[in-house]
Amino acid sequence: MKKPFCILTHSLPKEWLESLEGRVDLLIGPTEPPGLAPQLMDRLYEADGLLTILIDRVDDELLAKAPRLKVVSNMAVGVDNIDLAACKKRGILVGNTPDVLTEGTADLTMAILLSAARKLPQASQDAREGLWKTWSPTGWLGADLTGATLGIIGLGKIGKAVAKRAKGFGMRLVYTDSIRQLDQESLLNITYLSMDELLANSDFVTIHCPLLPETRGLLNESAMRKMKRTAILINAARGPIVDTPALLRALREGWITAAALDVTDPEPLPASHPLYSLTNCLIVPHIGSATYGTRQKMCELACANLLAGVEGRSLVHQIK
Ligand code: GLV
Repeated sequence: MKKPFCILTHSLPKEWLESLEGRVDLLIGPTEPPGLAPQLMDRLYEADGLLTILIDRVDDELLAKAPRLKVVSNMAVGVDNIDLAACKKRGILVGNTPDVLTEGTADLTMAILLSAARKLPQASQDAREGLWKTWSPTGWLGADLTGATLGIIGLGKIGKAVAKRAKGFGMRLVYTDSIRQLDQESLLNITYLSMDELLANSDFVTIHCPLLPETRGLLNESAMRKMKRTAILINAARGPIVDTPALLRALREGWITAAALDVTDPEPLPASHPLYSLTNCLIVPHIGSATYGTRQKMCELACANLLAGVEGRSLVHQIK
């Protein structure tokens, strides 16, 4: 019997793809460039399943080339790269990979928060460049976490995992979300605030909401001007939630003290971008889920969703 035909937009380690062996015929794309390589585009007409990564844009135009497609399985928790309405209209299921990346992404959030708070990139660079002349009582001073207020925008799974970690550092926790979560308030000892109150009261503001039309540009000039001048902004969610030109001005003009970004807009941020020239801006290349264990689990879950979709079963994690 003919096996379902699946396209993987980018190459992934063979051992992460074991569950697909013998079950589907596979066409695997290259490692690097975003989007579907031309040789994949040419075979879309016969694809039953498509496994994408978050840099692949799946829009109506692409779907029109794939009349047999039953499932788009995104190896990411975020699905802002996929036109969900267009998939729904065509009866195509969409899968994502939540849960398995929660802890890894929360770890990375704390890593960049701490790194920005304690000016690690600058301190490390200065040490390498011979500027470590003595133990300086006033050198490389950063911000304390103990007793500081952490404002969490979006108390989903990752937001909660960050809250748990921050509690261990003795931080005071506040959050804002579209839905107030009374059960979490007592569990995490976290206080609900309106967005404006959170911005005005937080020493650190960390973003963990999805990118939606209503969250695009949420952290714009007006929002950043409401933050404390001593505050540090952390974004490990999606770049376009922060207005990049406004952030550049905020950091240059001192509306806030520093930023730590795992995601940017645009992404990747070109090496010539002025944000890189600022010592108060830490930028890492979207590595929230980048541990061996997490990425393997994400891939295995994406494969499970793909298989379920092409075999007519319900997906393990299906976007409603
Ligand atoms: C990473 O950003 C993801 O959405 O999985």
